[in-house]
Amino acid sequence: MEKEIHKQTHLTPNLPDYKKAYKGFQWEAVRTELGLVPPVNIASKAVDQHARSWRRNKVALYWEGAEGQNCKYTFYELQKESNRIGNMLLNLGVRRGDRVFVFLPRILELYTSVIGIAKIGAVAGPMFSAFGPEALRDRLLDSGAKVLITHASLRERIHQVWDELPELKHVIVVGASAPSASLRAGSGGHVPLRKGEVSFEREVEKAPRGLEVEDMDLEDPLYILYTSGTTGKPKGVVHVHHDMLSHYITSKWVLDLKEEDVYWCTADPGWVTGTVYGLWGPWLNGCSQVTFEGRFEAEHWYSIIERYGVTVWYTAPTALRMLMKAGPEVVKKYNLKSLRYILSVGEPLNPEVIRWGMEVFGLCIHDTWWQTETGAIMIANYPSVPVRPGSMGKPFPGTEAAIIDGKGHKLPPGNSGILALKVAGPLPTQGWPSMMRALWGDEKRYKEYFTIPGWYTTGDTAHVDKDGYFWFIGRADDVIMTAGHRVGPFEVESALVEHRAVAEAGVIGKPDPERGEIIKAFIVLRHGHKPSIELEEEIKEFIRHRLSAHAYPREIQFMDGIPKTRSGKIMRRLLKARELGLPEGDLSTLED
Ligand code: WT7
Repeated sequence: MEKEIHKQTHLTPNLPDYKKAYKGFQWEAVRTELGLVPPVNIASKAVDQHARSWRRNKVALYWEGAEGQNCKYTFYELQKESNRIGNMLLNLGVRRGDRVFVFLPRILELYTSVIGIAKIGAVAGPMFSAFGPEALRDRLLDSGAKVLITHASLRERIHQVWDELPELKHVIVVGASAPSASLRAGSGGHVPLRKGEVSFEREVEKAPRGLEVEDMDLEDPLYILYTSGTTGKPKGVVHVHHDMLSHYITSKWVLDLKEEDVYWCTADPGWVTGTVYGLWGPWLNGCSQVTFEGRFEAEHWYSIIERYGVTVWYTAPTALRMLMKAGPEVVKKYNLKSLRYILSVGEPLNPEVIRWGMEVFGLCIHDTWWQTETGAIMIANYPSVPVRPGSMGKPFPGTEAAIIDGKGHKLPPGNSGILALKVAGPLPTQGWPSMMRALWGDEKRYKEYFTIPGWYTTGDTAHVDKDGYFWFIGRADDVIMTAGHRVGPFEVESALVEHRAVAEAGVIGKPDPERGEIIKAFIVLRHGHKPSIELEEEIKEFIRHRLSAHAYPREIQFMDGIPKTRSGKIMRRLLKARELGLPEGDLSTLED
C-alpha cells in the first residue's frame, strides 16, 4: 500500500473528528441546524433565505462563458430571476407535480430555471446539452414532461422528435428574441418560433418578480435525472425536497465549504454531480460558486482557478488525467495558490494522479463515491482523516456501507464482494434523506435494487480493509463509465441498429488510460454493406448526433456474428474477455 497522506488543509475542517461524528450521528441534529421545518421548499433554503439575509449581495454564481465572457449574480438576483421564471411557468399552466425539463448550455438560465421550477413545486429534469434527439425523446416521453426550456442553438434537436411527444405542450426558447442574460455569443438573433414555442425573454419580461413559493412536503418530488443500467432505456431516478438535508451536510463536511470559499464544480447539472454539488448543496451552505459554460481545455481551466481565486474544486479523474497529460509547463504559467481543497468523483482516482496533484498543487486530491440513486456522497475521504491513495474512503456519517455476498452476509476485510448500503424500514423510507424514492413509472426495476433484504445494492464490487477504508474494484454489471459518464450498452446498441447499414451490435467498455473506459462497438452489417473506414466514421457521427456526443463508440469492429446466449442475449462479457485477452469463462449458455 502507498503511504498515507496526512497533511491536507491549513484550515480547521468542518468535520474535525470523523469517528465521533459517525458514532453519534443523528439526522435530527442536521434538521435542526438547517432550520428545516416542513412544509418547506428547497429553493427557499438554498436561495431566498440568503437573499433576505446579509448574504443578499454576496455573489452566488460567477459565470464564465465558452468564449471567456463573464458575469456575476448575487443571491438576490437569483431569487428575483427564479421568481419570474416560476411566474412564467404558472402563466403557461404549469402546476405542482408537473415535469418541466431543462435542456440548456451552462448559462445562468439553466440555474435560475431549475430553481424557478422547484419554487412552484414542479419537478425539474435537467438534461445534458450534448444529448441528441434520441436521448431527449426517451427522457421527455418517459417523464411525460409538459414543458421544456431550451436554447435557440439546441431547439432543432427537439423539433426532430416533438411529434412523438404528445404530452409536451410548450417549448420555451432562451436566446431566440433577445440575447440571453448570460450574454451568450451567437444568441440574440431573431429566430422565428414555431407553433408551441415561446420566447423565454418575452415571457419572463411579462412575469412579476414577486412569487409565493410553494410549500412542499419533504417527500414531494424535486428532480428527475435519468441514468443507465445494463438493460433497457435510461431509468428516471426520482429525488425529493427532503434531499436537502443530505445536500447540505455532505457539502459542509465533505466539500468542507466555508463562508469565504470560491467553489468550482466542473460537472454539468445534466449529471447528478452538477445538480447536487454544482447547485443545491453549496447554495444551501450560502457559498459562492463558479460555473464555466465551455468544454474541457487545460489552459482555460487553470486560468479559471487563477482568475476567480477558486479555493475548493470538485472535479473528475478524467479531467485530472487530461490536465496531467497537458504537462507541467502549462501548470507553471498559472498561479493556483488560491486552491486549498480538491475532490474527485465518478471513477477510480488513480494513486498516480494523487501523486501528481501533490506535486503541482501541493494538495491531496480527495476521492468521493456515490451514485445518481444515492443522491449525495456516500463514501468519502475527509479533511480530518488520513488518505490512503486508491481508496474511496469511509462511509458518510448516517450511512452504513458493507461488502456483502449474494445472500446479504457481510464479508470480512480483504474479500471482494457487492458494495451495499444498509437501508432501514419499509420502502420507500430508506436509510438517508437523499436516497432515490422511485424510478419514474418503473416499480419493477426500482425493486431490483433491493432484492437482498436490508440492503441497497449499488452495482459496484469493492472490498474494505481492516480499518474501514473502501476500495473500488469494478462494476458488477455491463454499465460503462466513460470520462466519468455512465452509459448503458443497450442504449448505444439500440441507437446503432437504427443505422441503415447495421444489423446487430454489441457494446462494451474498453479500458482507456485517459477516459477510464471508452465505448467499443462490435457490429454485424446488413446484407449489401461492406466494412470501410468511411462507414465506420459515418456510424460514429450517427450516434454522436442521434444519441449523444459522450456516448458514441470511439472504436468499431466489424464482425460476422455477435456471440449470444441461446435465449438471444448479447454476451457482452465474452466480447470483453476476447477483446482483453482474458479467460472466456463459462460458455455453456452460448448459442451454437
Ligand atoms: C457509478 C455511479 C455521482 C457521481 C458521478 C457518477 C462509479 C462513482 C466513483 C469512485 C470509482 C466511482 C461507480 C458508481 N463511481 N464514484 N470514486 N470510484 N467509481 O454517478 O452516473 O450515477 O454513476 O460511478 O461505478 O456506481 P453515476
